[in-house]
Amino acid sequence: MSGLTNETVLVIDFGGAFKELAARCVRAQGVYSEIRPGVFPNEKIGKFAPIGIILAGVGADDDAKCAHLAPLGIPLLALDSWSEDAAHTEKIRKFLFQTCKAKGLYSLDVYIEHQISQIQGAIGSDKILLALSGGVDSSVCAALLTRAVPNQLTCIFVDHGFMRLNEGDRIEAAFAQQNINLIRINAQQCFLDKVAGVADPERKRKIIGEEFIAVFEEEAKKLGHIPYFAQGTIYADIVESGGEYGSVIKSHHNVGGLPEKLGFDKIIEPLAGLFKDEVRSLGAKLGLPDHLTRRQPFPGPGLAVRTLGAITAERLETVRQADAIVTEEIEKFDFAAVGLTPPSQYFAFITNTPTVGIKNHARTFDYAVGIRAVITDDYMTCTYAPLPHSLLDKMVRRITTEVASVSRVVYDITSKPPGTIEWE
Ligand code: XMP
Repeated sequence: MSGLTNETVLVIDFGGAFKELAARCVRAQGVYSEIRPGVFPNEKIGKFAPIGIILAGVGADDDAKCAHLAPLGIPLLALDSWSEDAAHTEKIRKFLFQTCKAKGLYSLDVYIEHQISQIQGAIGSDKILLALSGGVDSSVCAALLTRAVPNQLTCIFVDHGFMRLNEGDRIEAAFAQQNINLIRINAQQCFLDKVAGVADPERKRKIIGEEFIAVFEEEAKKLGHIPYFAQGTIYADIVESGGEYGSVIKSHHNVGGLPEKLGFDKIIEPLAGLFKDEVRSLGAKLGLPDHLTRRQPFPGPGLAVRTLGAITAERLETVRQADAIVTEEIEKFDFAAVGLTPPSQYFAFITNTPTVGIKNHARTFDYAVGIRAVITDDYMTCTYAPLPHSLLDKMVRRITTEVASVSRVVYDITSKPPGTIEWE
């Protein structure tokens, strides 16, 4: 991103799965970095005027792969693997400060200041709209825009009723505290009506997605013409989709769905240069609470994905209550004290399998509830968390006594692959 510190290092990806680790390691040492594919042409590299290039996934005998870069006369560092963080950090540090003579002026504060002036310059005195989900990216995006153009941003938060216990209220309260202009649309019943009787998970997702757009559109229309639309796209989204991040403003053809339907002139993506952990840190710097910046991944259709089979208000409430117990117990458990890694994501779900149980001397046929807790860095693969029996026992006892209509709870010990994280 030009104008940030005038020092960029490009990480060229030759198939090393560690390209992000390398790019993040460069940034952590105060030099802005971006990732580009192995086929990236020299003319485009030249436009970045990088002070150095790191070749991720190039071994000692791979000269041919990067021979075309030699004429650029830019210092190169080839890394064929990434086994030990400390050794690579040192290697990159020497490359940046000894070979490339970097000054190391990049930091998140610099990014914030740069983005604020870019946003102010782009929007002028116009208005801007943001679809807020309560997830990390859209929340941080809202906080940054509020810092840049405080009275010009409106956030619309469509509460579809599939949020976790008290989540909608907590989001609303956190934004009120930050003086972020938020309109909450309580569309819970409307979403529940739309999915009534629908058991197929893909259809459920589709119906909820379409309803979200319809509700958002109706609300946005009430606000009159707003030329700008903000999205919390982050750098990983861009790298994964093979796109390029060059400017704070993207023309709307790059983004599908909502903005096109609503006819926005311009899309602003102020987080598009940041990795996920940087987005979390930025949120904390902007004063957002931990429950927003440290939030676990959560499906767009929320608990609808965790209520297997046809959703009813009762089944939804069961999963919401069970989930609150799982969350509370896992969050207060001291994993370090028993030498265990805390799970990265944890939740309850309700199956569509009625099982027999006994309550007050009578047989019951309630749906089995499940607990999922996984350890993962990237959510693409995971191992199940080996939760202590005492913790599992506590959660199961609480769920079966405190939540109506639950006679049986199971713990899923499948890793991914073959099992996915969500049960859908
Ligand atoms: P699976 O179930 O495919 O999920 O192993 C991988 C990760 O993605 C999360 N997930 C979603 N995240 N929108 C999201 O932002 C969604 O619609 C969605 N569906 C699944 C899931 O919780 C897990 O962390």
